[in-house]
Amino acid sequence: MPKLKSKWVCQQCGFQSPAFLGRCTDCGSWNSLVEEIIRETAPNGRPGERLAAQRAEKQGAINGSSGPVALKDVKKEDYERFSLGLSSVDEVLGGGIVPGSVVLLAGDPGIGKSTLLLQIAKSLEAKRSLLYVSAEESAAQVGLRASRLGIAGDQLYIDTQQDVLLVCEHIQAKLPGLIIIDSIQAVYHPDIGSAPGSVSQVRQAAEEIINCARLNNIAAVIVGHINKEGVIAGPKVLEHMVDVVLQFEGDKSRQFRILRALKNRFGSTSEIALFSMNETGLNEVNQAGAFFLGDHLSKVNNGEQLGAGTAIVAYNEGNQALFLEVQALVGPTVYSSPRRVANGWDYNRLLQIIAVLEKKIGLSLARHDVYVNVVGGLDFNNPAGDLGVSTAITTSFYEKSVPANLFMVGEIGLTGEIRPVAGLAKILKEASRLGFKQAVIPTSNLKESAGENINLSASKLEINGVESLQEALNKIIVEQQTGTPKQSEKQGALYG
Ligand code: TYD
Ligand code: MG
Repeated sequence: MPKLKSKWVCQQCGFQSPAFLGRCTDCGSWNSLVEEIIRETAPNGRPGERLAAQRAEKQGAINGSSGPVALKDVKKEDYERFSLGLSSVDEVLGGGIVPGSVVLLAGDPGIGKSTLLLQIAKSLEAKRSLLYVSAEESAAQVGLRASRLGIAGDQLYIDTQQDVLLVCEHIQAKLPGLIIIDSIQAVYHPDIGSAPGSVSQVRQAAEEIINCARLNNIAAVIVGHINKEGVIAGPKVLEHMVDVVLQFEGDKSRQFRILRALKNRFGSTSEIALFSMNETGLNEVNQAGAFFLGDHLSKVNNGEQLGAGTAIVAYNEGNQALFLEVQALVGPTVYSSPRRVANGWDYNRLLQIIAVLEKKIGLSLARHDVYVNVVGGLDFNNPAGDLGVSTAITTSFYEKSVPANLFMVGEIGLTGEIRPVAGLAKILKEASRLGFKQAVIPTSNLKESAGENINLSASKLEINGVESLQEALNKIIVEQQTGTPKQSEKQGALYG
């Protein structure tokens, strides 16, 4: 009988303790420790042992011995990147995938991870063989989806094995050009007693696959589902182990999907890829600036007004300037303490903006609920949106509207000053292409010291530099009102 040993593992951070603790001493989460049984020694003849023997043999064959290798002896073809066939995914990876590297593709269940990987398989299949480990779906289910996506599948092998040691044996036998593990939560390591998906299982299974991929110099993509707290299950441990972490996100009720790199050992994390999901799978979106504005773009071009509580903001997501609609709803509260709700926007940043609006603009929000929503389901946590959020809150409070062809960019400091944002020149260029007419931006971005050469005379936009929140809201709201201002506004009562 193998010796059994148990330990208590935090399912949030992977911290291990020999005894039960109500609260993890490492990450502080409550009731997150689960008992996991570990077998100390693998029984004879199990795949684990066979694999270890194969590995030792392979290691010897590669290096002549298992000792160090001279850098000049490392072959170029062993680290030359190859394309995954979807140009935007290649860009996010930094110019293709590196052989022997391991990519974690993380995202909510149902967001389209399997679809994306099958499409990669489709574009790769003429060039290299592929092992698709489908631990969640049967071969028939994958086949059904593959036929919908028009995949011939000559070089695509489906493996429905869930035992990670057997998966590694299959990899070693087939030596495919790319391995896909869908998903890491559905495979298990037979020597770990806990259920698939637990931290120990995820870590051990991932380690096995990573070793196997490195040793055979095969690139691997591992799918990881995100749990409801927004962390990758088996969470931080996995992020440290892999070379690249890609996050696939979007609003499931809408078509758009965004792929971004959170970590990349072989490239920058500044590129993003945008897709739209339809009945034929995911389509790459080029010229993405106005993607999230949807029908609003026609309002921009027709010079229409936006509804009260709506503002258009711009920011740089990687190397792409994106335009978004931010909405706010402000109304008297019926609760003892007013509600503040932020969707797609950082909650603490919302509280900070409300505090600045109260103190510097005199907006009295203490007895008002404030709801903020970023349209499109994007997680837009970029300080460049501060000015847009303040505008939306203020216009909702006063029931004012602003023109659709006006957008704003700017971070708000605690003293109400408008701070510069990075990469404004790109935003302005994209704005004129999309047909915007007016921009409200930080004055400090126009100074030479900002390091950006913004050519005001050449721009088709009317560019307004602002230094404070007061000045910005005057420009955006008061000066935009058509018709005769009401008496109260004339007296400057707009701001309290
Ligand atoms: P899937 O790739 O199974 O998600 P994940 O692997 O991240 O859990 O995607 C599932 C969703 O994608 C499903 O709700 C339907 C949608 N979908 C389409 O809209 N069009 C398609 O062609 C395919 C294959 C899926
Ligand atoms: Mg899936």
